[in-house]
Amino acid sequence: MKEQLLKLEKKAFEELQAIRADYELENFRIRFLGKKGLLTSLMKKIGNLSPDERPRIGKLANIARNNLLKFFEETRERILSGDSDEGSFQDVTLPGREQALGHFHPITLMIKEVCRIFYGMGFRVVKGPDVELDYYNFEALNIPRDHPARDMQDTFYISQNVVLRTHTSPIQIRIMENQKPPVSIIAPGKVYRRDSDVSHTPMFHQVEGLLVDKHVTFGDLKGTLISFLHRMFGAETRIRFRPSFFPFTEPSAEIDIECVICRGKGCRTCSHTGWLEILGAGMVDPEVYGFVDYDPEVYSGFAFGMGIERIAMLRYGINDIQLFFKNDMRFLSQF
Ligand code: FA5
Ligand code: MG
Repeated sequence: MKEQLLKLEKKAFEELQAIRADYELENFRIRFLGKKGLLTSLMKKIGNLSPDERPRIGKLANIARNNLLKFFEETRERILSGDSDEGSFQDVTLPGREQALGHFHPITLMIKEVCRIFYGMGFRVVKGPDVELDYYNFEALNIPRDHPARDMQDTFYISQNVVLRTHTSPIQIRIMENQKPPVSIIAPGKVYRRDSDVSHTPMFHQVEGLLVDKHVTFGDLKGTLISFLHRMFGAETRIRFRPSFFPFTEPSAEIDIECVICRGKGCRTCSHTGWLEILGAGMVDPEVYGFVDYDPEVYSGFAFGMGIERIAMLRYGINDIQLFFKNDMRFLSQF
């Protein structure tokens, strides 16, 4: 009888310890402590014992029952206080679980930085639509239909008159249509072309710049861009202006900076030239002023358009433009 009692007490304690939910608690109470419960039935048998055994076992049984009731109450409190899952034990020496913080994409970081530098030089930041009218993307920029200059940018046409903008230059027209000089804006955004290799992707980002006022010269253009590039890449960075052609600027130039991947020795990224083209620029062609009703006898200005991915590649030493768009966290989390 004594053994039976001790065994039952041990079993009950173990089960109580394992309890995690309040419905288990009630099951336990009925099974052990209820009117027909295991402990109650055992205690009922005490009456059949011999008179000298009866008080001894009776006392033991009462102690067991009291212990069990006490532990049952403690368990109920533990469950009701919601501290059920891990038990009431908390290891305060465990290191904290780090929360991963989100961060900006490297392209976003570059756009922010370019805008910040130009903003500091007095340029206002504006935006234009990705889906653009042929008129703004080409015609008003002095690129008529069927003109061979359209071949410079392989275009995604949505309909005859609607395209995915191939550059941010249409924003120049949209701004000049609505504002008289002086104008000084920069306009970041996505642009689209059928193009794909280590330095080209079908969607990429440009930042357009436009400044129109009285007496603006090519010297102002050079000064502005060199000052920007030195702030962006450091004052020792080598920069090269190359004569070029754009239908909406005259004269036009393309600007290269020394390839930082190979330090100008020539590699895959710079097509073994040692230089990477990062922007096109020039003095706004008087033809363009005709479309926006500016007087070319009074006003002159310059414009430029730069590739943000190229700038990011040079700044971070990245040799493949496709990496920006693969969404590989191992790559992205480095910035
Ligand atoms: C233009 O898009 C002209 N709108 C730039 C301009 C603006 C000239 C204002 C004069 C006045 P271009 O096609 O060269 O020019 O592109 C400009 C820059 O975008 C390039 O220097 C290059 O850095 C980047 N770029 C061009 N194509 C791609 C491409 N497929 N992928 C990534 N970057 C590109
Ligand atoms: Mg070019």
